[in-house]
Amino acid sequence: MTQIGRFIEATRRPGVLGVHSLDHFSMTVPDLEKAKTFYESFGLDVHREGRGLALYTHGHGHRWGRLTEGPRKKLHYLSFGAFEDDLPRFREHLKGLNVERLPPPAGFESNGLWFRNHDGFPIEIRVAEKSSPNAKSAFATTSVGPGTRGAMGRSRAPMTRPRRLAHLALYTADVNRAVEFYSKVLGLRLSDSSEGNIAFMHGVHGSDHHVVALARSDGPGLHHCSWDVGAVQDIGLGAMQMASKGYVEGWGMGRHVLGANYFHYVRDPWGSYSEYSADMDYIPVDVDWSAADHPGEDSFYLWGPVPPADFVRNYELES
Ligand SMILES: [Fe+2]
Repeated sequence: MTQIGRFIEATRRPGVLGVHSLDHFSMTVPDLEKAKTFYESFGLDVHREGRGLALYTHGHGHRWGRLTEGPRKKLHYLSFGAFEDDLPRFREHLKGLNVERLPPPAGFESNGLWFRNHDGFPIEIRVAEKSSPNAKSAFATTSVGPGTRGAMGRSRAPMTRPRRLAHLALYTADVNRAVEFYSKVLGLRLSDSSEGNIAFMHGVHGSDHHVVALARSDGPGLHHCSWDVGAVQDIGLGAMQMASKGYVEGWGMGRHVLGANYFHYVRDPWGSYSEYSADMDYIPVDVDWSAADHPGEDSFYLWGPVPPADFVRNYELES
């Protein structure tokens, strides 16, 4: 019964109403085959499911993303996970806030609570297992001893396979309103922000520094989905494996200040990004993180190359 041996109880802050995880995201893309090739190259386990594709990480049963075909790449909805006994409380909470409930989007039937966010796109709160980590994710720095070779030949380099979805970064027309929405309605908490241009939010039941990042733009969109890996080496090898398939555009390798994660962003076929991320700050269930607002030039990244000129251009508003 190894399953039982591996079971770790979800961390939970008693008496506090808040979603525990970003359960999954859904987006439309104009070409499912292109998407399959991109995310498989990135190291995800891509399945055909229903009318589209589902994004899994290898060896993990959770579905992190759903892709269906549409005229253009567009974020479709976000689904957040909650504890089972919190769902009736969320139902009452939404009623108290006069949040109008919606039916699920056509073809995405579920028993969750659906409504629109401040930008008008669908959000779900569903009962789900806590897929955000209950402790800081393992991060390996290995150095061999003297007299031993530390690196393998290029041909023997392992493929990078992310362990889980880490977070999403979303564009929004009003970062402060977005923070208010995700705090008030979903119970996320502000981790850090920078001058109205970006804000990072975490789950109150124990999560990474951010499960959602909110970046200022003229309207909504998806800037990137981020995937957790266990070492700087995995990020470097991931960047190489993508470059070898022709996905050479992006930004990295570097290290962020807010969240402190090492990163490499790979540009997807639609002008947004998938990020390899490692060693992000973790906010345990019993820690009240002191959120602060930081000057942009001091907090965007600690080190790394200059970002591409269009790194924060919201192509969803243009296509
Ligand atoms: Fe990120």
